[in-house]
Amino acid sequence: MATFKAPHIPSSEITAESVYLQRRQFMKVAGLLAAPVMGGLALDTKAAPMTGGVSLDYQAAASGPEGYWTDEDATPAGDISSYCNFYEFGTDKGDPAKYSHEMSVDPWTIEVVGEVAKPGKINLEDVLSRYALEERIYRLRCVEAWSMVVPWVGFSLANLIKDFEPTSKARYVAFETLYRPSEMRGTRSYTSTIDWPYKEGLRMDEAMHPLAILSVGMYGKTLPNQNGAPVRLVVPWKYGFKSIKSVVKIRLTEEQPPTSWQLSNAREYGFYSNVNPEVNHPRWSQKYERRLPSSLFSPNRIATRKFNGYEEQVASLYAGMDLKKNY
Ligand code: MTE
Repeated sequence: MATFKAPHIPSSEITAESVYLQRRQFMKVAGLLAAPVMGGLALDTKAAPMTGGVSLDYQAAASGPEGYWTDEDATPAGDISSYCNFYEFGTDKGDPAKYSHEMSVDPWTIEVVGEVAKPGKINLEDVLSRYALEERIYRLRCVEAWSMVVPWVGFSLANLIKDFEPTSKARYVAFETLYRPSEMRGTRSYTSTIDWPYKEGLRMDEAMHPLAILSVGMYGKTLPNQNGAPVRLVVPWKYGFKSIKSVVKIRLTEEQPPTSWQLSNAREYGFYSNVNPEVNHPRWSQKYERRLPSSLFSPNRIATRKFNGYEEQVASLYAGMDLKKNY
């Protein structure tokens, strides 16, 4: 049975850096990747693997609505890309940074199927030129009780879903990660019990919520492989495991889709998995979290907020629902 590790403070794994991002605006980077830039990106991508080295040079501009960005200090890029959960590459926090370069992310296509009028595939270049990219500075709260603030670059998931024309039967959205054992040593491990490919799901209204994005970058650069390159989901009011990495398939469904962590341990991990300090994990409290960078001597322990601080924006999605039952 796959389990998350009980929270602890691996001080050795966390390198404090002095670089902090303090942008106080939710920034929009609309229309930056027009066709000529796209050509450049494709060439750059071939010249160097997309493991964090290639700068997309997203130039931020214009601010967006309040509540969709945080002015808390962003976690240094080095911490975000060295302390990761990406079980396809191993279960240690450092494994994804060590081994995810073995995953080839070029070319990349996302297939959208199921309850849609226009099922089909879209390749990454078209994704980048079609959807307006924005910078969203979000908190990310892992179920293991650590958290970060990440300046993502991404676009609204709703915009992509709408383009494939959901039918009236579409009630849920299921996501799948790439499954390529030859490039993902964690999936070849005999001790791994995750049902590959990694699967996640959202209710349709959650997926269409403006906070839900598909991210292609962070800190204004291409997403490092270990953080889910080239495109990953970010749902900031839910525990981090809902934010599935390296997405290749999106299926709209009538029924609630199975998810990897539910399949692995349904008692500990529910479908909703909204961040909630009032509902403890069966093996540990969810009342507090360790904000990275954190160390043994400076644990940086802070109170966890309901819906990870996005209550105002998303609580209405769950009106009348028992969040203890629907954990
Ligand atoms: N997606 C896939 N495909 N495989 C994973 O193991 N781990 C999840 C989530 N997405 C995971 C995944 C978990 S547990 C967390 S907390 C976040 O990714 C971590 O994202 P980060 O490593 O970019 O911080």
